[in-house]
Amino acid sequence: MFTSNPFAALSASIPTVYMQGYIVVMILLVMGGTILDMLHKKSAQYFFENAKKAKKSAKRSVGGGEKIAIATSVLVKEVLTSGEFDNPRRRLSHLLTMWGTIIFIVTTAIMIFSPSSTSTLLPQLWHIGALMLAVGGYWFWFAIRVDVAAEGLSWFRLERADLFILSLLATSTFALIWSFTGGGLTVFFALFILSSTVLFGGVYWSKFAHMFFKPAAAYQKKIIMADGSRENLPPDYDLTDPEVQRKFPDVPMYMGKNPPNMGLCIKAERANHY
Ligand code: HEM
Repeated sequence: MFTSNPFAALSASIPTVYMQGYIVVMILLVMGGTILDMLHKKSAQYFFENAKKAKKSAKRSVGGGEKIAIATSVLVKEVLTSGEFDNPRRRLSHLLTMWGTIIFIVTTAIMIFSPSSTSTLLPQLWHIGALMLAVGGYWFWFAIRVDVAAEGLSWFRLERADLFILSLLATSTFALIWSFTGGGLTVFFALFILSSTVLFGGVYWSKFAHMFFKPAAAYQKKIIMADGSRENLPPDYDLTDPEVQRKFPDVPMYMGKNPPNMGLCIKAERANHY
């Protein structure tokens, strides 16, 4: 079961070209939903206006090479390894969910577009991807979600914002049950297709598009640190530096010439909630 392509057996009931058409329609729905989301929230407009504003208060210009280095670090840290999450449980859950989704979607597309392939690796990866997504997603849903983990709300309280995680969970769960129960045209197949249609068709209403916006936001966040604009926030001062004490004479006046290190402040507590 783990090594056979469940879509190849299905082609006896549904012509492969219909399955391929479904994938194309899903891609178009994701593109359309993302564009509508951007127009509605004006996020792209805000992003570019904000970037232009930041450039005006830049203290230095960031060269092409440095921009490539920043883009590479965003790709490696924030995108590929979910480095934005300080909490290791959230990071691991996101890694499982994200990589599970990518492996599951890519292997689905390859198996449907190459129905004559006899690869046993692809179906195995398809099952592993769906399992990773389910493990990371259920862990997030039951234990990590902010409403549940930090605010003590019940895990079955639903909001529109949950559309993304719930449709991801439903897609992976019904795909696995469909495969484990022998595939074919069954009620589990219908539920699998229904949930994946909600996942890809619901981009406008869900958090789906964050996977395209977050990398751009992470890049911009690093650019404003590199060019010194820092959203007009002050730099991190060393309070023992005589230069800093000359600039802010109230520091030595109230705290002495050798002010104690006030600690990690916001990071004093290990990231637990967000
Ligand atoms: C296939 C790709 C991805 C999947 C399936 C995925 C899945 C998820 C899920 C399920 C959540 C929790 C959403 C919720 O609160 O309901 C989440 C949050 C988050 N994701 Fe992703 N993600 C993906 C790609 C990315 C990428 C590429 C980045 C960053 C570069 C990213 C950064 C984040 C961050 C920072 C959060 C938490 C903050 C927030 O909710 O806004 N994700 N992701």
